Amino acid sequence: MTIEPITAPDVHPIQEVLNQVHEKYRSLNLGTPATYIPELAKTDPKLFGICIVTVDGEQFSVGDAEQLFTIQSISKVFVHGLALEDHGREQVLSKVGVEPTGDAFNAIVLDEQSKRPYNPMVNAGAIATTSLIKGQGASERLNRMLAMFERYIGHESYIDMPTFMSERTTGFRNRAMAYLMRNFGMIDDRIDESLDLYFQQCSLMVNCCDLATMAATLANQGKNPRTGVQAVPSCYVRDMLSVMYMCGMYNYSGEWAYRVGLPAKSGVSGGLMVVVPGRLGLGIFSPPLDERGNSVRGVKVCEDLSEQFGLHLFECEERS
Ligand code: DON
Repeated sequence: MTIEPITAPDVHPIQEVLNQVHEKYRSLNLGTPATYIPELAKTDPKLFGICIVTVDGEQFSVGDAEQLFTIQSISKVFVHGLALEDHGREQVLSKVGVEPTGDAFNAIVLDEQSKRPYNPMVNAGAIATTSLIKGQGASERLNRMLAMFERYIGHESYIDMPTFMSERTTGFRNRAMAYLMRNFGMIDDRIDESLDLYFQQCSLMVNCCDLATMAATLANQGKNPRTGVQAVPSCYVRDMLSVMYMCGMYNYSGEWAYRVGLPAKSGVSGGLMVVVPGRLGLGIFSPPLDERGNSVRGVKVCEDLSEQFGLHLFECEERS
C-alpha cells in the first residue's frame, strides 16, 4: 500500500496576499473610532475585514469581511452618480463643483463666487447631489436611491434605523449647510426631505464584500461583474472616479493620490473603498480612524498593496 503525501491545498495568490496583509496589520492598534455620531461610538475597534472582487467577478476575503456597518460617506460616490444620471454633467456641475478643498468634510463653506459647495465628497456637496435625486415625494426618492445601491451591491440592502435617527437628531451642521445652500439657490425647497435622504444614504448597511463589489462595478465601466447589471451609464464612471481620486480621502486626498495613486473613498464608520480601473475593487473595514478621518489599517493595507503590486495609476514599471 502506498501512502500519498499530504499536500497543502492550493491557495489562490490573491487570497495569500490578503491573508498576509491582514495578519501584518491586525495588531496595529492606532487611531480611534468616530464618536460624533452617537451610534458609531458603540463599534468594536478590533473588527478588521478585507475583500477583493475582480472585474471577472471572482471574490476573495479575509477577517471580518461579512461584518455589516453603515456606509457613511462612501455613499456620496454613488449618489453623485445618480445625480449625473438624473440631470447630466453640466446641470450637476452648476450646483456642485469638483475642486478639492483643504477644509474639513463638514465645514460650512461654499465657493465665494459661484456659491457652490466645493465637491460632492464633502457634506455640503453631498447634500446638494442628494437634493438632485428625482422622484415624487420622500418614498419614491428613497426607493430610487435604494434601487441604485442594489444595482451596485447585487442584492437588497437596508437602512440602519438607529444610525439614521442618531444622525437626524444630531446633524445640526448638515442642517445649517442645507439652509445656507437653499439661501443661494443651490438646493430646492425640499430641504428637510433631502436631509432625511442624505442621513438615510449614510446609514445604508454594507459589508466589505459589498464595498468591493461596488468598487469592482466602477472598475468594470459601471457593470456589476457578479450580476452583469449596468449600475450606472458607463459615460459617468469617469466623473465619479475623477472626483474620488481628487477628493475621496478627506484632507489626505493629495498624499493618497501621490502614494497610492488610485480612486478611493473612505467613511467615518471605518469603511474604505478603492477602485483599480479595469482590474478590481477593494473593500476594507476597520473602525479606528487617523486624525484626518481615514481608517488607519485601511490606509496601511492600501499603501502596502499599491507598492507591492505597482497599482499606482501612473506607475511606469511593468509588474505582474
Ligand atoms: O454627515 C455626516 O457627518 C456623516 N453622515 C458622513 C460622514 C462621513 O463619512 C464623512 N465623509 N466625508
